[in-house]
Amino acid sequence: MAHFLTLSFKIVFMTKTPSILLIIGGGIAAYKSLLLIRELARRGIKTRAILTKGGAEFITPLSVGGLTGDKCFTDLFDLTDEAEMGHIELSRSADLVVVAPATADLMAKAATGLATDLATTALLATDKPVMMAPAMNVRMWEHPATQRNLKTLQKDGIQIIGPDEGDMACGEFGAGRMAEPEMMADAIATKLGGSAAQVIPFSGGSADLKDKHILVTAGPTHEPLDPVRYIANRSSGKQGYAIASALAQLGAKVTLVSGPTQISDPLGVKVVRVETARQMLSACEAALPADCFVACAAVADYRPEIETDHKIKKERGGLSAIPLAENPDILKTIARLEKGRPPLVVGFAAETDDVLAHAEAKRARKGCDWIVANDVSPGTGTMGGDRNTVVILSDKGEESWDNMLKTEVAGQLAAKIAKSLTS
Ligand code: C5P
Repeated sequence: MAHFLTLSFKIVFMTKTPSILLIIGGGIAAYKSLLLIRELARRGIKTRAILTKGGAEFITPLSVGGLTGDKCFTDLFDLTDEAEMGHIELSRSADLVVVAPATADLMAKAATGLATDLATTALLATDKPVMMAPAMNVRMWEHPATQRNLKTLQKDGIQIIGPDEGDMACGEFGAGRMAEPEMMADAIATKLGGSAAQVIPFSGGSADLKDKHILVTAGPTHEPLDPVRYIANRSSGKQGYAIASALAQLGAKVTLVSGPTQISDPLGVKVVRVETARQMLSACEAALPADCFVACAAVADYRPEIETDHKIKKERGGLSAIPLAENPDILKTIARLEKGRPPLVVGFAAETDDVLAHAEAKRARKGCDWIVANDVSPGTGTMGGDRNTVVILSDKGEESWDNMLKTEVAGQLAAKIAKSLTS
């Protein structure tokens, strides 16, 4: 009888729908929180939301409620809500509290422990982990007061995601953009993976990568010509980061060797940031051994033979005659290692024409097991976009996948890797 009771308790826990309490602060990035709700729903995560007074200047409770499928909570002194669900219960009913966008004001209040409205009261009353996605003007972000508050919040155990660097709504450039909704949703799903067993966001069965180490490269490399110029390929890094994140969600220990990108580190992933192809190769070699290597980076094939420490003058024709040296091929080097080759090596092939033929030739030339081939010709929107259409080539033939989000490609690929490494 006792055994039966234990078992039935476990079943209830495993099937609980993971949920978050999302606190939406008052900033232009509030619109991204709507996309975040949608991304979370795609991953099977339920959202209940509090919209602050400032947040309601940017988006409406109606749009938030429409997406969450629940009432959007807005005011501490809404007596009906207090009767139905007090702010204490609201703050504890979810598995995780997420503040996005976390404005400078919200961060300051949370760091001080002020409880002046429903959002800050919930933050003070919760007994659940808290994650914040700061979003504000770069000067506000860099202000010593915000940085002081940030340190206090981190010391209190609050997990910070982002901010990313880039153009800001206010016309300035720098750190302060809220992390992208897809990345955040991945980070949240990873975080919930520990407490809510149901969160396996992508199809792929119950494969478990717990004891596996997977090495992933992502982003471009920058090959400096002089202090102001470099050679690079176009690459946002989105696909590689999504793969690293999806593998971590399946329990793998992941090392992501990344070229320069504007994406925040995926949660649960060890990120090694590099600039050049040669640095990327050294970082990859240092990270071995690995059970699998996924080469997603858009590595520059060539680098200037000599890097100068002064700006090359175009008037003297300096730029037209720069000798180039070939960069090491990281994928080929690791796929052809005699000792310590990862058992599964996956390369990528971004092609603009004759995709399959070029990709299959590349698989043979590089010596990798699988090639993930995609069409990046103009008009496909793959470069820098959120969607991708891929074909996986292996010695078993080809497998075409529908057009889907890069995060979905990542999830499906992670599941395929898991199946291969664990069967
Ligand atoms: O030769 P190509 O650049 O098209 O090959 C693409 C594949 O090879 C990708 O998996 C990419 O990450 C990898 N690659 C590499 N090192 C290079 C060039 C490409 O790892 N120098």
